[in-house]
Amino acid sequence: MNVQSGAARYSAEFDQPVRGDMITADRYTSREWMEGEYEKLWPSVWHLGGMLADLEEEGDVIRHNFGRESIIMIKQADGSVKAFYNVCPHRGNRLVLGDIASTPRITCGYHGWQFDASGTLVDVQDPDDFPGGNPCGKVHLTEIQCATWGPFVFWAMNDDVAPLEEWLAPFPERLKGYNLENWVRVLNLSADCEFNWKIIRDNFNESYHLPTIHPELATFINDGLPTTLFEMYENGHNSMWMIGHQATSRKDYVSGDVPPGLYEAAEAWGIDPKEYRGRTQEVRQAVIEAKRKHGAERGYDYSEMTDQQLVDYFHCTLFPNLTITMSPEQCQILRTEPHPTDPAKCVFQHWCLYPPVKGMKEVVTPVGNAPLKHDAIQRHSVYGDGVSLGFVADQDLSIGTTQQQGLNSRGFKGCMLTYQEKRIQRFHELLNDVVLGHPTEQAPNAGEE
Ligand code: FES
Ligand SMILES: [Fe+2]
Repeated sequence: MNVQSGAARYSAEFDQPVRGDMITADRYTSREWMEGEYEKLWPSVWHLGGMLADLEEEGDVIRHNFGRESIIMIKQADGSVKAFYNVCPHRGNRLVLGDIASTPRITCGYHGWQFDASGTLVDVQDPDDFPGGNPCGKVHLTEIQCATWGPFVFWAMNDDVAPLEEWLAPFPERLKGYNLENWVRVLNLSADCEFNWKIIRDNFNESYHLPTIHPELATFINDGLPTTLFEMYENGHNSMWMIGHQATSRKDYVSGDVPPGLYEAAEAWGIDPKEYRGRTQEVRQAVIEAKRKHGAERGYDYSEMTDQQLVDYFHCTLFPNLTITMSPEQCQILRTEPHPTDPAKCVFQHWCLYPPVKGMKEVVTPVGNAPLKHDAIQRHSVYGDGVSLGFVADQDLSIGTTQQQGLNSRGFKGCMLTYQEKRIQRFHELLNDVVLGHPTEQAPNAGEE
């Protein structure tokens, strides 16, 4: 595949070669691929399980249903968090049935076996009736890896997954200045969707769709290729720096008035947009200066952020299924998770976190204003039933079902990507390596000069 040239801009320091494997349709539609992912992919990566804010006291529990698995994370007496499969060792009943719980003992709903916060069996009915003697104190829930980063709790099924901070690299370092550990998850949305989880992963691995699917963003996010920087890391994660507080360079927004969107963003920082007529691209620098000058008095802590972090959008796409999009005032978590049995379905999740700002009672979320408090808006819906998952997310999801339908067609011969979609190519090559154990055949356009 000819990926040596093109209009898109890749970091010289963080770039990765791709082979040009065909991105076949079966990965979105077949049960074999889904089974391969359950067996080889999902156990080998860290999963974002929940928020530390839900684990304040010993015995507080978060349940994370992931595909056909269910994991529970439990706060321990010493302040640490342990994660276990949510399954009773007696005869396999699922133990915790709610999203969060707080209990000194987890009690199985079938025969009443009880476990303490450390996962140890502490009480059973008829303890003398076991051939091997009373199992209490000897039997434990099956524990898996658990670790925290910032305000988040993660879990991993395999023991040999790299330590969390190492696995997340380079993001813990890159995101340090935002001080995410204090941020509050205000928005917690999820929805059942009628497409494979990778369809939205592909979408988050490219910005080619911005002008067509999100035309409204063009007035205050510059999606032009010359200024958008893509970074690809060896571990499979990648990122995109997109210039914010500036209109797209795909059209002439510079010579006229400051366009709507950018206009309001400027006004919000006390900048008169009318003064920037004919030089609208300079609004970005003015916002940087205004934030430096007035940020602290408005309760924001911008002290450890770079100028770029103050105004631009940093999209962090972690292999395989987690996206963290940063601006100084909002952190969006977007991800898709597989359906337990159907490769043509997934669960979409959208969280928004906000920094604690003194005196601020309300924040603007993608679905409207909400109080600045943990899980102020929380809901699960079915995509397409009219419940919004956020304006921009709705736009992305709108292509999911029709793309899934198209991928089912005998007429689809495999993806044909632009240079700027190279992150999609790498994503699928890594999947081929992990799930299939080998590359697929070369794409039809591979090797063309
Ligand atoms: S299955 Fe849990 S106590 Fe029997
Ligand atoms: Fe999008």
